[in-house]
Amino acid sequence: MGFPVRVRVPPPALRVEFLSEGAEDTELIGAYVSCRFAHFKTFLLVGDLGSGKTTFVRGFLKLLGYSNVRSPSFTLINTYRTPLGTVHHVDLYRLESEEEFYTLGLGDVLGRETVLIEWAQRLPYVEGLWIEFQHLEENRRKITLKLP
Ligand SMILES: Nc1ncnc2c1ncn2[C@@H]1O[C@H](COP(=O)(O)OP(=O)(O)OP(=O)(O)O)[C@@H](O)[C@H]1O
Ligand SMILES: [Mg+2]
Repeated sequence: MGFPVRVRVPPPALRVEFLSEGAEDTELIGAYVSCRFAHFKTFLLVGDLGSGKTTFVRGFLKLLGYSNVRSPSFTLINTYRTPLGTVHHVDLYRLESEEEFYTLGLGDVLGRETVLIEWAQRLPYVEGLWIEFQHLEENRRKITLKLP
């Protein structure tokens, strides 16, 4: 008989980097993440203006049957019914206050339905898969998934 060994090892934090050479690549990466990492449900998209966040979401939703995804810059949120369940696309660039975030009605939804949040760094803390977008050159972007 062995004896019990209890070792607490923190899970490795894994960075998965993609190099995108154009908007089509970024859409493909979005489609890949939507099938491979769907279980995360909350996707926190961080990166400068024009770094490819909306393009990524377009690919994510294209795979789920929507080919007309536009930025929810003014509405702050767009909601889609998909085979994966309800998907919310949120853009917090124009968020005025933390309180305004709660008016979007995501409180009951986070963790249950799929939510992609552009400018997620405007929130204090939300659990989910962080995805960073870096503008390298005119058509090149680095997209990094930070897996817990
Ligand atoms: N490799 C690439 N990946 C993504 N977009 C690219 C790439 N190369 C060029 N682009 C262009 O860059 C722009 C990216 O815009 P997009 O709306 O996706 O950025 P964003 O991060 O959502 O910006 P914002 O913060 O304003 O919402 C598009 O015009 C797209 O065609
Ligand atoms: Mg955008």
